[in-house]
Amino acid sequence: MTSPLSLDAWNQLQSLYESKGKSFSTKEAFKSDPKRFSKFSHEFTNFDNSKILFDYSKNLIDEEILSSLIQLAKEANVEKLRNEMFNGDHINTTEDRAVYHVALRNRSMKEMKVDGVNVANEVNDVLQHMKEFSDSVRDGSWKGYTGEKILNVVNIGIGGSDLGPVMVTEALKHYAHESIKVHFVSNVDGTHIVETLKNCKPESTLFLIASKTFTTAETCANAVTAKNWFLNHVKDESHIAKHFVALSTNADEVAKFGIDTKNMFGFENWVGGRYSVWSAIGLSICIYIGFENFDKFLKGAEAIDNHFLNTPIEENIPFLGGLLTIWYNNFHKAQTKLVAPFDQYMHRFPAYLQQLSMESNGKSVTKDSKFVNYETGVVLFGEPTTNAQHSFFQLVHQGTKLIPTDFILAAQSHNPVENNKHQLMLASNYFAQAESLMLGKTKEQVESEGTESSLVPHKMFPGNRPTTSILAQKITPATLGSLIAYYEHVTFVEGAIWGINSFDQWGVELGKVLAKVILKELQTEGDVKTHDASTQGLINQFKAWA
Ligand code: F6P
Repeated sequence: MTSPLSLDAWNQLQSLYESKGKSFSTKEAFKSDPKRFSKFSHEFTNFDNSKILFDYSKNLIDEEILSSLIQLAKEANVEKLRNEMFNGDHINTTEDRAVYHVALRNRSMKEMKVDGVNVANEVNDVLQHMKEFSDSVRDGSWKGYTGEKILNVVNIGIGGSDLGPVMVTEALKHYAHESIKVHFVSNVDGTHIVETLKNCKPESTLFLIASKTFTTAETCANAVTAKNWFLNHVKDESHIAKHFVALSTNADEVAKFGIDTKNMFGFENWVGGRYSVWSAIGLSICIYIGFENFDKFLKGAEAIDNHFLNTPIEENIPFLGGLLTIWYNNFHKAQTKLVAPFDQYMHRFPAYLQQLSMESNGKSVTKDSKFVNYETGVVLFGEPTTNAQHSFFQLVHQGTKLIPTDFILAAQSHNPVENNKHQLMLASNYFAQAESLMLGKTKEQVESEGTESSLVPHKMFPGNRPTTSILAQKITPATLGSLIAYYEHVTFVEGAIWGINSFDQWGVELGKVLAKVILKELQTEGDVKTHDASTQGLINQFKAWA
């Protein structure tokens, strides 16, 4: 693999950064180019004809910089890797697996093969099973052991088996079933399951044990606790069949746990955990918003897949999003990326993207096993705003760091209360934040307001802080599916240019292994003596206090 540092386009970008990138003024760029907005913004049309506008024009780029970034993607063979992904090739090299979440949203039922086998029908069969099951829970024909309808669905999972369903059910709450509630238990902290079960009755509760591997310690512990809670009330194991369902790739472990594999919704190991919201892992979403809406969610993602696969890089929105990360991370030396949805329903979206981005691209070894000598994955963070404006936006506006930011807004609110006043206030902030981050406030402007001289520097804003504004018409299942798929492919482009494997996660292993050893020590009497002084001191103090 060629290091990105030795690509011509990389060197050209380095020169461009030196000659104009580091002093680039977006404000000036708008003044000198009246067509800048239309040149750097792209409208995406979804399968249902709804639109999303991606405005990249407030970024620190001009046509020359952008064309070098595009050239970089070409020289780094990103299109080839993309085609391999869509072809079902084993691009997850360290685990020798295909990366085929795109096959989960193949609603047009194209032939999509992994290892010579077309998986379109298999995927569709699971979706049909999800439809039948979710319909029966929603219409009340699936009954608990006493004949009661299901009113509470508890998804027990962690990481990709939790964050997607949590985020999507929150984001699409507007479409929720009127009487079924969904709950999510992820943390092994007993508080999570205890507090959740306070709201549930065994007769009307359905547990979805969501785990790709069905071996994840936290999920297994919570699942056992849920089963014990259920059996303590019910006292008859045969009733488990009505109340426990598994979402997994591991039928053996599911059976060992005591769930009949008839009540298992499967998927294959070519679905990465953080890309699994589209699979059986989405069953809680299906129950909550109905299969028809889940299907639109998949189709929205499929529409972005088609765009990503078939559009030239120049017009390809996930390519552009990913290339901007490279520009800021590797040339401007930005360390972070902020995603700020102006949408309360999307309050878990940044948390979801944290796993997507940082578990995918938090790597320092290339696909050909060499340590990198350049920066890779960004620290992605975010919160819904306007709330975020009243907490950490101070640093975004006036801090010493460059924090490229994505703002997301839907033009139409699901809750246009007070004659849509709230929505207009929300929108005004969305526009104002991006504008003020770009324009800043000069010394002259502050002085002209009669500000006392010692306060002038405090009230100045440097401006020129880059933002991408994403404007949807409405947050529907289709739009949300598209937005998630957009960020998946942005992550893909970033990882492809850095030459890393965005689809494994070896970095989570060491802590898991050590925790197993320490758990045994915590369960044994007496002081521990086998760790470094700090860990030992802490463990022994814990044992004394526990
Ligand atoms: O520990 C990281 C991880 O493997 C994630 O990649 C995954 O989403 C999560 O754990 C949960 O894994 P599983 O679905 O197998 O329980």
